[in-house]
Amino acid sequence: MAETDDFPLVQFMRDGFDPVDELGRIRAEHPVFPMQMPGDQTVYLVTRWEDVRAVLGDHERFSNDFAGVIGLGSNQEDPGGLGFRDPPEHTRLRRYLTPEFTMRRLRRLEPRIEALVAECLDRMEAKGAEVLPVDLVEEFALPIPSLVVCELLGVPYGERAAFEKISRDRFDLSAGPEASLQAINDAMTYLTDLVARERRDPGDGLLGQLLREHGDELDDRTLASMADGLLTGGHDTSTSMLALGTLWLLRNPEQAAKVREVDGYVVDVVEELLRYMTVVQVAFPRFARDDLELHGVQIKKGEMVLCSLVGANRDRALGDDMDQVRPGRDTAGSHLAFGHGIHRCIGAPLAQMEMRIAFPALLRRFPGLHVAGEVPFRELAIVYGVKELPVAW
Ligand code: HEM
Repeated sequence: MAETDDFPLVQFMRDGFDPVDELGRIRAEHPVFPMQMPGDQTVYLVTRWEDVRAVLGDHERFSNDFAGVIGLGSNQEDPGGLGFRDPPEHTRLRRYLTPEFTMRRLRRLEPRIEALVAECLDRMEAKGAEVLPVDLVEEFALPIPSLVVCELLGVPYGERAAFEKISRDRFDLSAGPEASLQAINDAMTYLTDLVARERRDPGDGLLGQLLREHGDELDDRTLASMADGLLTGGHDTSTSMLALGTLWLLRNPEQAAKVREVDGYVVDVVEELLRYMTVVQVAFPRFARDDLELHGVQIKKGEMVLCSLVGANRDRALGDDMDQVRPGRDTAGSHLAFGHGIHRCIGAPLAQMEMRIAFPALLRRFPGLHVAGEVPFRELAIVYGVKELPVAW
């Protein structure tokens, strides 16, 4: 089995919408690919659909809690980070959130999401009346996920602009590590204060609901961290899908016309675009709980396994022509864009709802929408996306 000399970054790279060719070669030749990291560590890249599904589905052999595996104990300060926790703590915290993401509960958000999408489109239209092109990321793909999380949590209307700034800063990595740390602190300060106010006077959002039902079991800091976990899980991911999805639709006008005109067609398009774009390129790192063997490769206790969701979702094992977008494929239950197993995305139905509302609304508002300039893609990213999307109409 060939090993690389350096830690390759193919799992974080893309070629437009597609994975780089190297990833396909690795998937064909080395199902479990050992990569040398600086410091003589080995990380194993898993790229085939079946293997990725097996690793993500096996929390007995693979842990998400690195500190726990190497015996440091879990970081109790960050209970919102479900993605870095194992059962039983993961199960306990996730159980509080599960009822908030049922279709019945989410349906109550539907008219509010429609309204906030319409408000974003109003602002975009007004801006476009002054100057074109406008940046669709700035006007559409960034604000919608942030406002949706506002609705979900129950952030008061008057604080939305402040919340939007907090969530933008939270994901702006260009300002450097210190600014990122500051942004995390600002978000936690705001959310802890919001939770304290909700405790005094619970509203009808997720926080109010959790406080009414479990207020004596959850302290303010824990709840604020859970809210932060939803913001981090739901923001950049949805922003990227809204921007990449729009770009694809604008490059495929016959599909855009169908989304605009045929009620319900968007459901299939969204599902297939989720698979095709797979914006979360790799899952949270998994760590071997013990020495184990995967596809004949020996992995030692504590070593890291990286699952390439992009690799898995373009694997022929999932179906034919996976490099093509074919709305209506029967992969809705089997693609891995939202992961698999106990850590599968809790926000998946909300993200789907958001996109099913946003794409047709956008295309109906601006029937002449088109790309109007260069589109810079992110170069190395865990969450893939575009930096800007200049559009005109
Ligand atoms: C298109 C949008 C989204 C995509 C592609 C996406 C993708 C994912 C993936 C792949 C995972 C699992 C990672 C793993 O197993 O290692 C995940 C987990 C998670 N997502 Fe999402 N997500 C999206 C939207 C959202 C939204 C809207 C929310 C909440 C408002 C959310 C909250 C979470 C949380 C809390 C987890 C951790 C779950 C756990 O560990 O139990 N996500 N997401």
